[in-house]
Formats: sequence, C-alpha cells, structure tokens
Amino acid sequence: MADGEHVLIFDTTLRDGEQSPGATMSHTEKLEIAELLDEMAVDIIEAGFPIASEGDFEAVSEISRLAKSAVICGLARANFQDIDRCWEAVRKARRPRIHTFIGTSPLHRDIPKLSKDEMAKRIHDTVTHARNLCDNVQWSPMDATRTEWDYLARVVEIAIKAGATTINIPDTVGYTAPRESAGLIKRLIQEVPGADEVVFATHCHNDLGMATANALAAVEGGARQIECTINGLGERAGNTALEEVVMAMRVRSDIMPFKTGVDTTKLIHVSRRVATVSGFAVQYNKAIVGKNAFAHESGIHQDGMLKNAKTFEIMRPEDVGLSETSIVMGKHSGRAALRSKLRELGFDPGDNQLNDIFVRFKALADRKKEVFDDDLVALIRDQETGEVNDRIKVKFLRVICGTEAPQSADLILEIDGEETRGTAQGDGPVDATFNAVKKLFPHKARLQLYQVQAVTEGTDAQATVSVRMEEDGLIATGQSADTDTVVASAKAYVNALNRLLVRRQRAGPDADVKQVSYRVTG
Ligand code: KIV
Ligand code: ZN
Repeated sequence: MADGEHVLIFDTTLRDGEQSPGATMSHTEKLEIAELLDEMAVDIIEAGFPIASEGDFEAVSEISRLAKSAVICGLARANFQDIDRCWEAVRKARRPRIHTFIGTSPLHRDIPKLSKDEMAKRIHDTVTHARNLCDNVQWSPMDATRTEWDYLARVVEIAIKAGATTINIPDTVGYTAPRESAGLIKRLIQEVPGADEVVFATHCHNDLGMATANALAAVEGGARQIECTINGLGERAGNTALEEVVMAMRVRSDIMPFKTGVDTTKLIHVSRRVATVSGFAVQYNKAIVGKNAFAHESGIHQDGMLKNAKTFEIMRPEDVGLSETSIVMGKHSGRAALRSKLRELGFDPGDNQLNDIFVRFKALADRKKEVFDDDLVALIRDQETGEVNDRIKVKFLRVICGTEAPQSADLILEIDGEETRGTAQGDGPVDATFNAVKKLFPHKARLQLYQVQAVTEGTDAQATVSVRMEEDGLIATGQSADTDTVVASAKAYVNALNRLLVRRQRAGPDADVKQVSYRVTG
C-alpha cells in the first residue's frame, strides 16, 4: 500500500445506491452487503434512511448491531423527527454517525419555501440537535454545486459551529467538472472559519460521466472523504464508483499521494454480489470490475501480454480479486473439490447449502462440457435467489417454438404447495412462458426490465436472466441462471413475483405512498 494521506471511503451503496429505481434489496441482502463492505474495510457505511420505511429502519439497526469496524451512518432530513429516528437506528453501532442534509440551492430552497435566514436557522437547530445525540455528525448542503457561493460558505460555517464533524459537498445532479470541484472544496477550506477542524467530503453523481474525476479532483482540493457506491450504483447515471476511486489512487499514487484502507482484493466479489442483489448487471467494459476489464483480445495485445503483462496492464487482476477463469471442475469432481473451489471464489456454504449446490453442479456438469468459475458463481447465486418459502415455484416447462408464430408454453407451477398446469401462447417462447405464469397466477405487476446475459462462452453457456417487475409503486427484481434461457426466464420471472409478494405483504396498504414521499434527490 502506498504512503500518503488517508482518504476515508464512505460507501453509500445501501442508501444512495439502493435508492436507484429497481435496485431495492431485501433485508438479508442488505445485511450481507454491509458485512462484505465491513470486511473490505470501507471506513463508513451509509446503511439507509431510517425514517423512510420500517424496512430501512430495521436494516440500519441490524447493520449497526452487527458491524465490526466500520462507522455506521444513517441519513436524516433536516427535522428533529428524522434525526431522532436515525439516532434510534444507529445508536447500537460501535461507531455511529448521523448524516443530516437539506437542499441549499435556490431551486431546492424553494421547495420548503424557506428564506435564506429561515433555512440557516433550521440548519443550526438540526445540526445542534443531532450533535446532542451523537458525537459524529455529518452535514450536507444538497445541490451544493448549484448553491450561491456566499450562501454555501455561510451555511457551512453555521453547520461547523453547530457541531458537524464532517461537511459533505454533494454534486447532487452531476453538474460540476473536475477543476470546479477541486476549486470549491479548496475555497471552502481556505475561507470558512473552523473549516480546518472538520473533514470535508465529496459526493458526486455521474450525469455527465465525471463522477470519478470530480471526486478525485475534490480530494486534490482538500477533501478527505469520498462518498461512493459499488459499481457506481445510484439514481439516474449513478454515483462515483468505489472501485474506480480506490484503484485510481492506488495505481497513480505517484501523482495522487493518497491511500485508503480498502482491501482491493475483495472488489470483484463485492461488485458481483451487488450486481446480483440489485439486479443491475455490470457493463462488460466497466472500469476495474467489468468482465472485459482485464481481457485482451487483439493479437498485438495478446502477444505483448504473453511477453510482459505490464505492456498492456496497469494493475494486476489479482489486485482486484480476479481469479483466472479456468476449467477446473467437471462431472467427476467431488464434494470436497467443490467446497474448496467455492471457498477460492469467496463463498463459504454450510453443509446443507453445499449439498444442494453439489446436486445442481452435477446436473450442470452432465449438460455442459466445461464448468467454469463463473458457472459456479451463477449456480450459487441461483440457489440463493430461490428462497425455500417462495409461494410460487416452477415445476415443469415445455415450450414449442419455431419459425411459425405464435409459440406456446406448457407450464406447471406449484402455488402455495399445490400444483397447477396451464398452457399459453405468445410472441416468442419467453412471452408465451410469461403469459402462462400470468394465466396460472393472475397478477397486475408490470414487467419493467428483462435482461439476458451469457455467463460464459459457448452455445452451452448458462444464461443469467434478470427480471424487474413493478406493481403500485413497489418494485422487485428476480434472477435465475440455467443453460436453457427460457427456463432461466421463467424462474427469474417467478422469483421477481415472489419477492413482490413479500414486499407487498411487508409494506401494507400505503407502501407506495411512503416510498415516494421519502425519496430524496441524488
Ligand atoms: O446527492 C445528494 O445530494 C445526496 C444527499 C442526500 C447527500 O445523496
Ligand atoms: Zn446522492
């Protein structure tokens, strides 16, 4: 690890990331991601927005209880009720933090209809209140980069005087550019009284594709905390990607003399888990964690790589936790070999889980010539997404397709323990299958997204299918993998439906109202 000043990594995958439409995670998934982030040694985990819903509150409370070393932070708007609820959720953490914010730009000030003076008083009162509860308080002027300089400097000073320990400067709408980002932080540190007593943070959105550059520029301007998400998950174009800023500071420590405490060898695993649970697949050419980030296809590149990896590689795949995709498992491999392979890939299944994966692995090895690492990861994820107490299960599927439309699907579903069979037609095998599910389990949910990705190469590759469904403002994502794309589609659709049913049950009749009214911008 290079020497240099420490930059704190504040991960907001579970708050700003999860806020992105369709990325909603279940309680168990949030706990798992928080545990991975904690193990990866991020400094601060923003675990959620406790007043937004009962589910958010419970997740933040549980993460606070379980976290071993990270600071656990909850978000609160600028009112006492939000702050009290946030404190209630994070107080069990070894190292709790309250993060309170208010929109300070002219457009945002206009929403609560507060004058500049009224807002300044609100900031003073709410930060003081938060500080009376917790000695670690972060304050954010939302849309800071579009706030008038004089007013921004004035309210930052008020927040510092009221006891904020971290001042976060959000570029809420992804509007700033690197030079401006650096200049703003630098000027605040130079001109605001008391600025040297607090940590300045940067929080960038990627609307113009500059979130990583803006965050790193802010660090050059004096920020010592970067707010970011795994895979850059987040509303609209997303947030600064954690893996990008961390690796940029590591690889270019010669010109950016900063360091983080992040264990970068865990990046790939965390990235894949976040992609799975959020249903937001990582683009192939995504920096650091994309499937092609370390792949070399052209002849010149391959030749250079074979002679000296440094010719085309500025970091080693193993630095980010990438293990070679290799053909190591086949139909003769035993349980012990499978367990050891899964451990190598970052999974540690219990005995029952291993037995189940072993059965699936054998079935896959029978159908597929070569079982790659990625196949095993898809298999284990598929096992995790199909929950034992799912109300609906796919028992049998046969589709008839060919050049003549319509195609038809013959489907057996088990619904609440009882098997039911039906056929339906559609425009293509997947459409016919989804129509058959609708026929057997009538529902109003709308299909928002249908996405297929091949896990490995070859015509016998497994396909991972993601399905996102929406009903009355509630959104759920389902996934499944199979060598048969239509089977994977049916299972993913049913998986999303099961999740939607759980969500509907948990949320109660006014769930959609709560979700919408507590959503924050950015
Ligand atoms: O983008 C933003 O302004 C935010 C704040 C709540 C910090 O996410
Ligand atoms: Zn944001």
